Amino acid sequence: MTPRQKLLVQATFEKAELNADLVGELFYRQLFNLDPGLKSMFKTDIDEQGRCLMRMIAMMVKALDYPDEFQRLVGELGRRHAGYGVGGRQYETVGKALLWALEAGIGGQFTPEVREAWTAFYDGLADSMQRERAAEAGQIALRL
Ligand code: HEM
Repeated sequence: MTPRQKLLVQATFEKAELNADLVGELFYRQLFNLDPGLKSMFKTDIDEQGRCLMRMIAMMVKALDYPDEFQRLVGELGRRHAGYGVGGRQYETVGKALLWALEAGIGGQFTPEVREAWTAFYDGLADSMQRERAAEAGQIALRL
């Protein structure tokens, strides 16, 4: 991510947060439209899950200014998601639903440049989370 992309993500997320509940709700609606099979993975009430997702993204967007804190958050989240059985193509589907929900929440300010910035942010996040998953799998293999 370039420094400008980081600023664009931070500034546009502030706008999305004004409609946090709506963005969270739209995210899950779109996610389950794209892949209805994912529904059964979620046990928590979906409104609460939407709020939880937005809070986590808020922490990560702020942590972009603190790389060590960012890595810690992503590492822990990646390990928990490995435990939920999340992987591969599901990350792509979640990325698509997230960008769609952010665009719906922010409206006209979601310019092509903002989309690129969010794509860079999400791809970096998804890669790091999956690296944690791979590291975890490696450790399990070593323990066996
Ligand atoms: C990459 C960005 C993602 C973020 C920021 C994110 C965020 C979160 C958060 C904050 C939670 C609440 C529990 C916890 O903190 O562990 C959670 C749970 C969960 N997430 Fe994600 N997640 C992401 C990607 C994904 C993907 C790709 C999937 C695949 C479908 C997924 C599926 C789940 C499931 C199944 C749960 C547990 C729900 C439950 O127990 O009801 N997440 N996620």
